[in-house]
Amino acid sequence: MPRVSGVIPAAGEGTRLRPLTLAAPKHLISLLGKPMIGYPIEHLVEAGVSDITIVVGYLGHLIRGALGDGSSFGARLSYVTQEERLGIAHAIHLAIEEASIAGPFVVYLGDNILKGGIMRYLNRFLEGGYDVYILLARVRDPSRFGVAVLRDGRIVKLVEKPRHPISDLAVIGVYFFRDPDLVEKAFSTLKPSGRGEYEITELIQWFIDHGYNIGYETVSGWWKDVGTPQGLLEALYLLLDEVEPRLEGSVEGEVYGRVIVEEGAVVEGKVYGPAYIGRGSRVGPKAKVEHYVSLEPASHVASGTVTRSLLLEESLVDINSLRLVDSVIGRRARITCKRELYGTLQAALSDYSSVEI
Ligand code: G1P
Repeated sequence: MPRVSGVIPAAGEGTRLRPLTLAAPKHLISLLGKPMIGYPIEHLVEAGVSDITIVVGYLGHLIRGALGDGSSFGARLSYVTQEERLGIAHAIHLAIEEASIAGPFVVYLGDNILKGGIMRYLNRFLEGGYDVYILLARVRDPSRFGVAVLRDGRIVKLVEKPRHPISDLAVIGVYFFRDPDLVEKAFSTLKPSGRGEYEITELIQWFIDHGYNIGYETVSGWWKDVGTPQGLLEALYLLLDEVEPRLEGSVEGEVYGRVIVEEGAVVEGKVYGPAYIGRGSRVGPKAKVEHYVSLEPASHVASGTVTRSLLLEESLVDINSLRLVDSVIGRRARITCKRELYGTLQAALSDYSSVEI
């Protein structure tokens, strides 16, 4: 197999995930004890791609600080800074130039997660001798993505965020390229789009227009763009669906179904799976964690019921008889209620915020 490099664009501001992204980039939001960007890194490493360039920008020093040289993932990470948010095609151009990428490479967007990883797609790309290989998935809301228009089984056109419904086949954020020089040539012809970005779809359109060999595959498993609050919770549910039960922490209460209790976690109340109880987190004796919940490291449900929610590191939920649903609670944020109140609440709390009911 030729040596294949990896590029992970992770410079975006995560505007659609505000307020969660005001203090930290979205790529560091933790899902089942791992920063979101850890999934692309692991999938690349699994496929044999361990030289990876991360393109950072917004709060990039935090990403560098968290991932370091990548050795904990078995990767060799290098970093390139995209000073201005000029889009994915520009991020790829910077990576090629500054990290001196010379052979085939895979781009895996830092906010995408593709179930089952990329190994088989990488093999198909290499075996098929393609110049560009892309992955497609049917979506209900094509206007949020780049989409592919097919004719007689061939891709004839890619359109970024189509206003009119011309295709429901979204282009997934994982792209394979054979020749970095050709990518640079294509990039040199691009102009910023209406949103001021050099679009990846337009870069690939150049290859289509110039008759290059484009391969594609429609994926059948799940794929998530984790760039929105809804996407974040959906990714969480899908990841939890695959949880294999594992109890390494202390369980003094009750645990039902597929639950992970990490080392150093304490469950004194009740946990119904699928659920993830991260390192050093705690479910108090008066608390109930009920289906599709993740307690990221050192978070604490002291009282109340939590369903379909993500509690980020060191957050606290202490809500007595209330029920928290479909919520994301930021790092070190607290939501408390000392009164005898009954009912359901939904919250998206940024890091360090505090709500008393
Ligand atoms: C980007 C790409 C788009 C692709 C999507 C996948 O969109 O521009 O073509 O379908 O990622 O997640 P963005 O997240 O920048 O809106």
